[in-house]
Amino acid sequence: MNIIEAIENRRSIRAFKPDTIPYEILKKVLKTAGRSPSYTNTQPWEIAVVSEKKRDELSCELYETASSDTPITPDIQKPLIWPVELDKRAKEHGERRFNVLGIGREDTEKRKNLRLSNFKFYDAPAVIFIFMDKSLGEWSIMDIGMFAQTIMISALEYGLGTCPQAALTDYPHIVRRHLNIPDSKKLVLGISIGYPDKDALINTYRSIRVEMDEFVKWF
Ligand SMILES: Cc1cc2nc3c(=O)[nH]c(=O)nc-3n(C[C@H](O)[C@H](O)[C@H](O)COP(=O)(O)O)c2cc1C
Repeated sequence: MNIIEAIENRRSIRAFKPDTIPYEILKKVLKTAGRSPSYTNTQPWEIAVVSEKKRDELSCELYETASSDTPITPDIQKPLIWPVELDKRAKEHGERRFNVLGIGREDTEKRKNLRLSNFKFYDAPAVIFIFMDKSLGEWSIMDIGMFAQTIMISALEYGLGTCPQAALTDYPHIVRRHLNIPDSKKLVLGISIGYPDKDALINTYRSIRVEMDEFVKWF
């Protein structure tokens, strides 16, 4: 797969097969991601890869916590208000995803279950949590964004799919406790990773994009 194909083919996967990912392959993906650029080469990313028993235990507590509508306490605040255009895109994304699954506006139970499936890691056999030191700021978050994208693109080389999930940062104290990570580390992102379930309806969903001319000005 060439680079352009990989970037254009990557999409968020929300249903995975249970097949285990060989340790050597996960290592290769993360080693490649380690080549990502960062501000003055500071490489702020700190990674925890979670699978098997630990994965199940963590998923269980996150799922139960989210199911009981426990207020979220993410280390990175979620925006309460979006600019109008972005808000429209976010709502459109939500609705199109529900439509693919045939979930109507009134079906609050099914909508909730779809949200909660985040905490089952969409059945992925492994999750990559990305932390950084709490003393760091926005530039380091930018570095982590690049690192995350490199993980997601590299994973394609091995037939793996990924889903970056802000939802997995909703209860960072639970993640830190299970993984024995100190409070001084900020949870930036979780990425579910595994072999895509190609038969799952949710994986037929394709997000759309604004035309390039809408986000570029030429001088
Ligand atoms: C920072 C970030 C957080 C995200 N959080 C979630 C999430 O919590 N749950 C989820 O299912 N998808 C999540 N996504 C995936 C986006 O919904 C997805 O990238 C977007 O709709 C574009 O679709 P695509 O990735 O298939 O191209 C997140 C993506 C990013 C970059």
